[in-house]
Amino acid sequence: MPRTNPQLLRTYNHRLNGIAPSGIRHFDDTISKNADLIKLTLGEPDLDTPEHIKQAAIQGINDNDSHYSAQAGKVELRQAIANYLSTRWHIDYDAEEVVVTNGATQSIYSALQAIVNPGDEVIIPTPIFSLYEPIIEILGGHVVDVDTSQTGFKLTPALLEDALKQHPGVVALVINDPNNPTGVSYTEDEVKQLGQVIAKSPIWVLSDEIYGELTFDHDHYSLAREIPDQVLYINGLSKSHAMTGWRFGYICGPSEIMQRIKMINAYMVTCVADNVQDAALEAMTNGQEDAYEAKAIYQKRRDLVSSRLDEMGVEYVMPTSTFYCFIKIDDSYGKDDYQFGLVLAEKVGLGVIPGRMFGKSGEGYIRISFAASEEKLTAGLDRLNKFIQLLGK
Ligand SMILES: Cc1ncc(COP(=O)(O)O)c(C=O)c1O
Repeated sequence: MPRTNPQLLRTYNHRLNGIAPSGIRHFDDTISKNADLIKLTLGEPDLDTPEHIKQAAIQGINDNDSHYSAQAGKVELRQAIANYLSTRWHIDYDAEEVVVTNGATQSIYSALQAIVNPGDEVIIPTPIFSLYEPIIEILGGHVVDVDTSQTGFKLTPALLEDALKQHPGVVALVINDPNNPTGVSYTEDEVKQLGQVIAKSPIWVLSDEIYGELTFDHDHYSLAREIPDQVLYINGLSKSHAMTGWRFGYICGPSEIMQRIKMINAYMVTCVADNVQDAALEAMTNGQEDAYEAKAIYQKRRDLVSSRLDEMGVEYVMPTSTFYCFIKIDDSYGKDDYQFGLVLAEKVGLGVIPGRMFGKSGEGYIRISFAASEEKLTAGLDRLNKFIQLLGK
């Protein structure tokens, strides 16, 4: 096994020094040493990829669809994405303004790379999915953290105006609607009000709408409908079609910046795997029912989780979307959600994610994922109940 020549250590990209691997994965690995653990940790659908989508990929392989595609993705696929966005969310992009990527993850990286210069500030309302911050830091940017814990875990126009006033040089804002980890989603009115504030400032918005198909109590309303000239719209099939392992996502935006994103993507990966694009074409063309079915399943589980938590008298954020529930921890732990998560796993064998993994404003909460069967959820919630009983003694 070669060891790094010590003289080379100084050549590392120093921006990586302060960045740690995913805290969520690390915590999950730590508690997973308990063999009897019920894990409600990762944001991974437990459903299978729909059969007709799998068949499309198999057909692609059998047809020797195994070459480089157009770098931004096959034209018919980008057209299918544009059609979907127009009929489903009333947002209008030409196929030329769509780039397909390896998961939404790569869309997020490419978008931020196209915008952020060293020293630039980017506003992130937290708690939020933990990917954006390290990427901004790798690129030499700085995060302006806006705490939403006092406003129902939503960015309000007042909070945004205040952040923009205090940081006039901000180049971008990240919005994740519907939100991981809280399960909250913005109403049409709220999106419109935020859009009005954003429109007054020359900033980009990276709008990660990957859970858009999974809203329960109101329809999803895209920010790209309000301010298309400022939005980089990000979506994918991981959550709506249980396709995390296929690695398929896409990004759309105004044509000038999309030329740059196209170039970044081409230099990074050339293109997405051919047969994955065949599967995605099938999903984008004939897969709307799959998303409705997935949503009905998660909604039923949301109802199960919320009624059980109500019975237990536990405080939580009502998830209007996604497959996550953000639960307040017992007062005896103060804000120490990390310790709470460790002891919960150790004492009753329930695995959750500490809220601080999604930003400081998530402290005092844990996230459970209800992308798990009803049996598993029921057993997991029984264990949470047992732990709460133990604490009360
Ligand atoms: C908000 C959000 N955006 C993006 C992703 C990454 O999606 P993908 O699997 O398409 O890379 C996730 C995954 O958990 C997520 O929660």
